[in-house]
Amino acid sequence: MSLIIAGERSGVGKTTVTLALLAALRQRQQVVQSFKVGPDYIDSMFHQRVTGRACRSLDPVLTSEAYVQRCFGHIAKLQSMRWLKA
Ligand SMILES: Nc1ncnc2c1ncn2[C@@H]1O[C@H](COP(=O)(O)OP(=O)(O)O)[C@@H](O)[C@H]1O
Ligand SMILES: [Mg+2]
Repeated sequence: MSLIIAGERSGVGKTTVTLALLAALRQRQQVVQSFKVGPDYIDSMFHQRVTGRACRSLDPVLTSEAYVQRCFGHIAKLQSMRWLKA
């Protein structure tokens, strides 16, 4: 299962909602893989703190759409559940 948390601008609560959902899943002993869209390392560190796993960066600007698709596909194959956070 994949879920995208998105918002139309910064400050609307994407990170807050994402961290709450990740924490709730982790409390239920779920394996959860988070992703972060865009060049941000701070949110990724929050994700890792909650899930215990490295958050993967998906940035089509600094890489390419093809790379993002390959990266997501590769990591997703290894996980039963993955979350995409925009
Ligand atoms: N540690 C914090 N203490 C107080 N307010 C915060 C904190 N982190 C975020 N906020 C506020 O909560 C709101 C949502 O933030 P955030 O979840 O980071 O939004 P987004 O990820 O969409 O940019 C914003 O108004 C932000 O200023
Ligand atoms: Mg955020």
